[in-house]
Amino acid sequence: MTKMEEFLGKFPNQCEEAIRIANDIFEQRISRDISGYRDRRGILVCGVGGSAAGGDILKDYLYKKIDIPVGVNKDYELPGYADSRTLVFVNSYSGNTEETLSSFMQALDRKCSVVTITSGGKLYQLSKENNIPCIRIPQGMPPRATFAYLFFPMLIVLEKLGYIRIQKEEIQETIRMLEDLKAKCKDPEKNGDNSIIGLLDKLQDRIPLILTSEIFKGCAWRLKSQFNENSKILAFCSTIPELNHNEIEALSQNLPYSKNVFLLLLRDRFESSRLKKRIEITIKIVRDRVDGVFELYSEGEHILTRILSLLHKGDWVSIHLAKRKKIDPIPTPKIDLIKKELGQY
Ligand code: PA5
Repeated sequence: MTKMEEFLGKFPNQCEEAIRIANDIFEQRISRDISGYRDRRGILVCGVGGSAAGGDILKDYLYKKIDIPVGVNKDYELPGYADSRTLVFVNSYSGNTEETLSSFMQALDRKCSVVTITSGGKLYQLSKENNIPCIRIPQGMPPRATFAYLFFPMLIVLEKLGYIRIQKEEIQETIRMLEDLKAKCKDPEKNGDNSIIGLLDKLQDRIPLILTSEIFKGCAWRLKSQFNENSKILAFCSTIPELNHNEIEALSQNLPYSKNVFLLLLRDRFESSRLKKRIEITIKIVRDRVDGVFELYSEGEHILTRILSLLHKGDWVSIHLAKRKKIDPIPTPKIDLIKKELGQY
């Protein structure tokens, strides 16, 4: 078993631990510092790469649950609307990523209500120096293997501050589902999970175009990024209905390179009837142009469970693919090189 498989095998436990850590830190240290953090007019999550995934998923999860805007910032500069009425989470696993540090400094300048999540580095130091509440998470993992630690603490803080209510049952269903999926996905060959084996066969020499509905957009981006970083393959993603207003024109052409692409649909049994119809029509138009269509379904009842079930399945697929290609999913030498060449920030 590779190290990344070990990390992924701990995902359900990590979710529970992340909730515990956030609760403890909130009670012991944060609650007294953030009396002014309630009733903000918007929420913004800053971070890049593996540390942004929690923000993307949070945005999807909160879509129908909250009546203030939620944004994700993956750049040096904060959007113009971020001000003293904005609650800003600044997430960097290493704590040393320059785009995120820059956002952090801007958030301080603009007097936003800031919470940081990091395992250490400059972000931890700067949080301490500026008296900013910081949720410190365990060290020693690749950032993309720490999704639980970068995501659940935001939920806990939002709940404690009265922005959302999380049902206990929702968390319980999610952890149960992740345990079940782990057992199924960890060794698909042994467990005879044909859906994952079929997908892996397809992924050997094809480019996935991951397509999903708006509410699972964060999952699609996460899977694209996991294919890029863990399996080192090209992957692209899009959403429906948007794809019906642009890519469909190109996908329906008889382009020689389209045969290198296959459509990987991230689906949900709660899709509206209009969306289902759109997906059927889209498949009918593109089926013969691309190298096939593959569907992965979310599982569970609650939206949190359905989102994280797709995310977890996708994570396993990306590392099984790396294994088949005899690649260690952990090293990301070019990401490191760029950070090194950029030099001191
Ligand atoms: O998954 C990865 O290793 C990267 O995408 C990193 O998350 C990204 O480079 C940002 O680094 P950090 O998460 O430490 O802020």
